[in-house]
Amino acid sequence: DAPLRDHADQMGFEIGAALAANHLQNDSQYADLAATEFNAATPENAMKWESTEPSRNQFDFGSADAFMDFAQANNQKVRGHTLVWHNQLPSWVENGNFSESELRSVMENHIDRVAGRYAGEIAYWDVANEIFLGDGSWRDSVFYRTLGPDFVADALRMTAEADPNAELWLNDYSIDGVNAKSDAYYNLIRDLIAQGVPIDGIGLQAHLINGQVPGSLQQNIQRFADLGIKVAITELDVRIEMPASQSELEQQARDYRSVMDACQAVDGCVAVTVWGVSDQYSWVPDTFEGQGAPLLFNDSYQPKPAYDAVHEAL
Ligand code: XIL
Repeated sequence: DAPLRDHADQMGFEIGAALAANHLQNDSQYADLAATEFNAATPENAMKWESTEPSRNQFDFGSADAFMDFAQANNQKVRGHTLVWHNQLPSWVENGNFSESELRSVMENHIDRVAGRYAGEIAYWDVANEIFLGDGSWRDSVFYRTLGPDFVADALRMTAEADPNAELWLNDYSIDGVNAKSDAYYNLIRDLIAQGVPIDGIGLQAHLINGQVPGSLQQNIQRFADLGIKVAITELDVRIEMPASQSELEQQARDYRSVMDACQAVDGCVAVTVWGVSDQYSWVPDTFEGQGAPLLFNDSYQPKPAYDAVHEAL
């Protein structure tokens, strides 16, 4: 049957994957699947601060350029990921003891150079990533501590300046359902809009546990769309306690299907991106002990029941 992207193209929908520049270069089976199945792509690590500006004002675009070349050669819409984030942030920023005005100019220079390099080529930027904690309070990052909550509005405006064509998004995990953390985004985005700050979308990462798709996912997507912004599922994976049984793989397929259905039921939900191509390179086993097999293709690049479920949804 036709690949996912053919069906998605016909519906005007985006089905994306996070892609790693090193695997694109070294693993042709990985690269083939990435090109064949997906009409959108997110760099898994290549555009993060530690990759692009490992020391102050020393930029390295090797991996990011390789990723962009691949995405463009394969006609994939790109989600830039990510400009301002507390993780994978080099220590020269985190522990630089910058004053407020210094850190603002460090942030502005970073955004200018990274978003500026790919201006006109990025559909969406995850401008700020993971700014809130589970209870809806602000995460105590170096950006929040030094600049206060306005660092988000500043980063959005700086990105608009550097790439006027990119859509400007926020992105986080555990905001898939209606809860205290997604409420914090709802309120922030409502306030940003009221203040005239440019904001185009909210990314729900959706790093999910098998059998635990939030019941309020569609309602949550709908309330953000009702604010007049777009929504996407940006980092979907569904992790299973290893080893994965056949019935768990079937549950996983139902979970993927529910996420697809929730997004497709809401007009402003434009894309579903999975956080990797095949299970063996997933970040899940490295991050969640004993968990794995979260993606659409298994270790030998065979489609799983979850692949069929996504296919049927398109
Ligand atoms: C992960 C990558 O997949 C790993 O390769 C890396 O070691 C750590 O980061 N939320 C995000 C992503 O926004 O950037 C993270 O990606 C997963 C959680």
